[in-house]
Amino acid sequence: MGRNGEGKSTLIKAIMGEIEVGGTCELGHNVRAGYFAQNPASLLAPELTVFQTVDEVAKGEIRSQIKHILGAFMFSGEAIDKKGKFLSGGERTRLAMVRLLLEPVNLLILDEPTNHLDMRSKDVLKEALLDFEGTLILVSHDRDFLQGLARKVFEFKVQRVIEHSETIDAFLERSRLQRITELNLSK
Ligand SMILES: Nc1ncnc2c1ncn2[C@@H]1O[C@H](COP(=O)(O)OP(=O)(O)OP(=O)(O)O)[C@@H](O)[C@H]1O
Ligand SMILES: [Mg+2]
Repeated sequence: MGRNGEGKSTLIKAIMGEIEVGGTCELGHNVRAGYFAQNPASLLAPELTVFQTVDEVAKGEIRSQIKHILGAFMFSGEAIDKKGKFLSGGERTRLAMVRLLLEPVNLLILDEPTNHLDMRSKDVLKEALLDFEGTLILVSHDRDFLQGLARKVFEFKVQRVIEHSETIDAFLERSRLQRITELNLSK
């Protein structure tokens, strides 16, 4: 969590090895990371259809369930034959998520994944993330979405990162109380 421009996306890019960092940043031995960027340069192949995009990554048993999975992410009927280049922002995000969730990753890093999503899509994504068994690093300004997902909060604040071992609700409640106390003191 943190205000715009505090460095959340930058830290994530550092973790993903996309930018040079001053210190060291290493992923653990067996870590396989999947990444959803906030401003992706090219998220999906423009000429592949929704079905093909998922078909490309799905391996083994799960292959028989591609249509079912796409349906759960609200691609059904003709929608699965639409090409990447014609998808809306929300459709693009949903499809990128299906792909990520089908890949054998044990670390998911999502930088503001809900930006283009409507309420129902957010619920679908949240359910899928609750089922995800690996580690999730999530940047979001969306309190409702974070609720129940985050067990730890990293607060980006005036060029520092403060780690809080508490749920997002506990964190926000405490921040609120702190602000109220500060206001009272300054009176
Ligand atoms: N390549 C770059 N060169 C110079 N400054 C940069 C570069 N990339 C990011 N910045 C700056 O670093 C700061 C942190 O950016 P970052 O994208 O990490 O913020 P953020 O916390 O993710 O913000 P938001 O909530 O808006 O997504 C910003 O002021 C940004 O302008
Ligand atoms: Mg950002």
